[in-house]
Amino acid sequence: MIILAIDTSCDETSVAVLDNRRVLSSVVSSQVELHKKWGGVVPDIARRAHKENIGKVFKEAVKRAKIQEKDIDYVAVTIGPGLAIALEVGIDFAKELSSRLKKPFVPVNHMAGHLFASTAINLAGKNPAGIKEDFEIFPLIALLVSGNHTEIIYSKAFGDYEIMGETLDDACGEAFDKVARILDLGYPGGPTITFLADQYVKDVKSGKLNELVEKLDMNLPVPMEKSGDLNFSFSGLKTACLYKVKNIKEEVEKINKIAKVKLKQSDWVKRFCYIFIQVSIKALEIKLVKAINIKHDAHSLVVGGGVINNHYVVRRMSRIAKENGLLFLAPEKRFRSDNAGMIGLAAYYQVKYSINIVNYNDISEMDRIPNLRLDA
Ligand code: KG4
Ligand code: ZN
Repeated sequence: MIILAIDTSCDETSVAVLDNRRVLSSVVSSQVELHKKWGGVVPDIARRAHKENIGKVFKEAVKRAKIQEKDIDYVAVTIGPGLAIALEVGIDFAKELSSRLKKPFVPVNHMAGHLFASTAINLAGKNPAGIKEDFEIFPLIALLVSGNHTEIIYSKAFGDYEIMGETLDDACGEAFDKVARILDLGYPGGPTITFLADQYVKDVKSGKLNELVEKLDMNLPVPMEKSGDLNFSFSGLKTACLYKVKNIKEEVEKINKIAKVKLKQSDWVKRFCYIFIQVSIKALEIKLVKAINIKHDAHSLVVGGGVINNHYVVRRMSRIAKENGLLFLAPEKRFRSDNAGMIGLAAYYQVKYSINIVNYNDISEMDRIPNLRLDA
């Protein structure tokens, strides 16, 4: 079964080709460079870039998969959640393809893509976690952390989702992006903050760290630590960072008045990035462990979303799985940030379990759902 999958939900134009769970190609055209100077994704710019690129990305995905258009059995596309005018570009392209090829249309929830990204089979015919059939992973608890979502999901079967906890305001990735802005580190924040935290760890190991930096007060509160539920608030952490950075700058100014060697922002920012990551992880961990303790029958812990690119986050989540006797599944690198490969996987399960498959004659009604939820 050949699935052609499309994702234009945010700032990546992506098309993938799958043969069942095996990803034959997953081409991503990133718009990061276009949005960088605005410090975030600008919907109008995203829409224009998707329109310009989708034809090329589609052709490239088909070529790399070594298939022909006529081999496609299903056309899958993200219908939400995401930016309305960006989603529309992918949906229109998928509709046209589905009706031209006379093949069924599979509307996919982007978060189901992140959830099942770790079940992909690579070109060597292997799944990194050794998953042979999807039912091996249920019941599962998933932690999905991206630029727009922070959710803990419990699922007994494909298509059946309970959102146990979610962010009440900013998403975890969004906090990385906003804190990076506070620190003048550019967009997107996650990769730079991780890079600088790595530098801090190196400095500590090699004994190169300035001792004045270690003395600066960088204590940050763990958001929603005692809230009693499983929800998150990363906007609180962002605000705490804003005030803390202001205090640190004042403190550094005082120190520099008397110090022989002056402290620069590049000296202390590495430690701040490291501490920010640790507090973010703590915030995720507290709620995740609570969820695991509630759902005693869970068999696996699945993680997904752009923040999973952070190796500190993945390592801690993998340890939590181990400590709780859960099978741990994290996506391969190429399926962590937005990509159509993961959309194709979710579509594969939809086809397998006959969930929401639309005949090409009935697609005119198909529309974007910007706030689509997994438990809808
Ligand atoms: O899943 P994704 O690619 O797009 C959405 O669906 O939102 O996630 C993007 C988010 C951005 O906020 C970005 O800063 C974050 O993932 N991110 C990271 C890292 N790499 C990307 N966050 C923390 N550490 C990283 N290494
Ligand atoms: Zn995403």
